[in-house]
Parts: sequence; C-alpha cells; structure tokens
Amino acid sequence: MSRAERSRRADLPDGSLDAEDLPDGLVVADADGLVVCFNTAAARISGIPPAAALGRPLAEALPLEDLEGRRWWQLTDPYGGLATRTRQPERNLLLPGGREVLVSARFLRADDRTGPVLRVVVALRGTEARRRTERSHAELIATVAHELRSPLTSVKGFTATLLQKWERFTDDQKRLMLETVDADANRVTRLIAELLDISRIDAGRLEIRRQQIDLPAAVRHHVDGKTAAGVAPGRFVIRVQEPLPPLWADADKIDQVLGNLLENAVRHGEGTVTIEVQPEKAAHAPGLLREWTVVTVSDQGPGIPEESIPRVFTRFWRGSKRGGTGLGLYIVKGIVEAHGGTIAVDRGPEGGARFRFSLPAGIPEFMI
Ligand SMILES: Nc1ncnc2c1ncn2[C@@H]1O[C@H](COP(=O)(O)OP(=O)(O)OP(=O)(O)O)[C@@H](O)[C@H]1O
Ligand SMILES: [Mg+2]
Repeated sequence: MSRAERSRRADLPDGSLDAEDLPDGLVVADADGLVVCFNTAAARISGIPPAAALGRPLAEALPLEDLEGRRWWQLTDPYGGLATRTRQPERNLLLPGGREVLVSARFLRADDRTGPVLRVVVALRGTEARRRTERSHAELIATVAHELRSPLTSVKGFTATLLQKWERFTDDQKRLMLETVDADANRVTRLIAELLDISRIDAGRLEIRRQQIDLPAAVRHHVDGKTAAGVAPGRFVIRVQEPLPPLWADADKIDQVLGNLLENAVRHGEGTVTIEVQPEKAAHAPGLLREWTVVTVSDQGPGIPEESIPRVFTRFWRGSKRGGTGLGLYIVKGIVEAHGGTIAVDRGPEGGARFRFSLPAGIPEFMI
C-alpha cells in the first residue's frame, strides 16, 4: 500500500462509509441473486422504491432492457454465464416506462476471480448530465455551421456572379465585389482561429508563454492602432498608476484581451473610452497577500443590462446587432483565467460598461 493510500484510508474510520454516502445509485445482489442493498440514489435514478427491490431476484427488482428491447440480465447472465467475466462496462439501458439509466456492474467471484459469483455490484447513473453535454455540443455545431455559412454564401455568390458575367461589370463594381469577398474570407479565417482558441480553452490546453511585459505600452499601442484606423484620438483616455509590479504574461494573448475589450468599447459602447492600469494588493489565498495588475476599460455607452451580465462571458452571446460572433469575451475570460487572473463587468461611473481584469503580478512561481 502506498503512503498516499494509507493516509487516505486512515482518514476514514472503519464503517464510516456506507451505501448512502455514494453519489451514484448502488444495487448489490448476493450469491443467490437476491438484492441485499438498494441505496436512495438508486431509488431516485430508477424510480423504484428500495422496499420493492430488497430481497427480490435482481432481474425482477431491476428489470433492465437494452435499446433493442432485450432483457439485459438474461444477456449478461452473471450467475450462469462465462465464469471468467468479472465486469460489465457502462451501458445505456432502459427501465420499464422508458426511463434511461447508465449501468455498469462488477461480478465478485470466489476462488481468485474464477469461482461462482459471490456478489453482483451494480452502479446506476442518470443520463441527464450526459444528455446536457450532448445537447450543448449539438448546439455548438449548429451555431458554428450557421456562422460559417453566411460569409461563405456571400463568397460563393459574388465569385459565381463575377465568373459568369465578368464582362458586364465596370472595374469599380468588380472591385467592390472582390472587397466583399476579401472581407468575408477574413471573417471565416478569424472565426476558425477563434474556434481553435475556444477548443483549447475548453480542453484546458491554452498554452501561456510568459515573458515580462509592459502593459501600459501595450495599451498605448492598441490605442494608436485604433486612431490610425480612423477612430477619433480624443475618444481614448489612458490612466496609469505607477509604480506597477513586474508582470509576467503571454504578450500575444494579453494583446488579444486588450484588442477585444477596446474593440467592444468602440463598437458596442459610446463616448470616451477610459483605460486604467493600476497595481493592487489583494489576498491570493487565505493569509497570502499578492500583487496584482488591474486593468479597467470603461465607456459611456448603454452598458450591459443587469439581467444579461451573467451571460456576457458565455460563447456566442451577443446583445447588440453590431457585427461580431459573440466569442470575443468568452476567449478573453479564458485567457485571463489561464493566467491565474479574473475578469468581471459592471456599470461604470458614467453609465457605460466597465470591464475589469486582474492578473497576478510578480515573478511567476516556476522562475523562483
Ligand atoms: N462595452 C460594451 N458596451 C455594451 N455592450 C457590450 C460591450 N462589450 C460587449 N458588449 C455586449 O456583449 C456582447 C458579447 O461581446 P463579445 O465581445 O463576446 O462578442 P461580439 O463583440 O459581439 O463579437 P466578437 O467579439 O466575437 O467579434 C456584445 O455583442 C455586446 O452586446
Ligand atoms: Mg467583441
């Protein structure tokens, strides 16, 4: 027994764990095939009261069928079947009335796993959680397909028209169509890059390459970029509270965060966009003070309605019709959290949206 195992067992005084403590349904049948244990979770998942199951033959107490309507206990036959079989992997089965359950079983045998069955232990799990994940995958696929289709429809439409009726258009008309095709192709490329980011975030595989970064310089760089692209320079105010602690972060990913928040403030907000960068000392863990760099981006637009605030950081949520796929803030949150930081939104002093993210500052643990 390993040390870890010994200490885990030592934490459990004898007899402290019983069937009622398990989150899953538990059904146990003895050597004669009679049900000797049927916990409350099993009753909740199967809809069968324990009193109706205890003492009865397993196949009658828990009449499971596979999706083709065959009686499952007859197929598995734990008491009469192959004497080497010791388990049944998880399967989706049906109870009378069509209730779906996920079932797995262990057959405990005498004589070093080849003798007669001493006990059959069945675990039952509800299918709601799995269904929910499946539904959310299906929804994601539908949304992605829809988002990809509209720019591709326009690309296909314009290229087909140009190819068929090239002679009939003036140079200006052709240029306009090609510019639309170019913009839509860029949209598809960007969407695919965002989807790849999302799949990395969801799988916990977002790689953070830390280097020391100058956050105020990065903010200024973004603001310069926006003004060069035609946004009035007076729209931005930058406030930096020095001295800032050294910050180790992934420069490209922090650029992505700033780019998204500034773009949102300009596109969805109005008026002056104020960006503040300041240091903060706050608890990291109980009794552990840590330095943070806090960035606030606020605007004077309509803000985000109170009831929508919990949904702002979910994927594909968008409140206004001003372009966008609704993935920006989901990715922003994923990047900030991958750095060990946090992000939140509320209403700023001037009524608009105020996004505030904090990144843990100081030398990262791996460098000490
Ligand atoms: N500064 C803001 N003021 C008002 N509403 C905002 C602001 N920032 C974001 N929102 C709302 O939150 C929604 C989600 O933002 P998010 O950045 O995730 O998506 P998007 O900007 O619509 O699309 P994308 O960023 O993927 O191009 C926006 O559609 C908008 O309704
Ligand atoms: Mg956005």
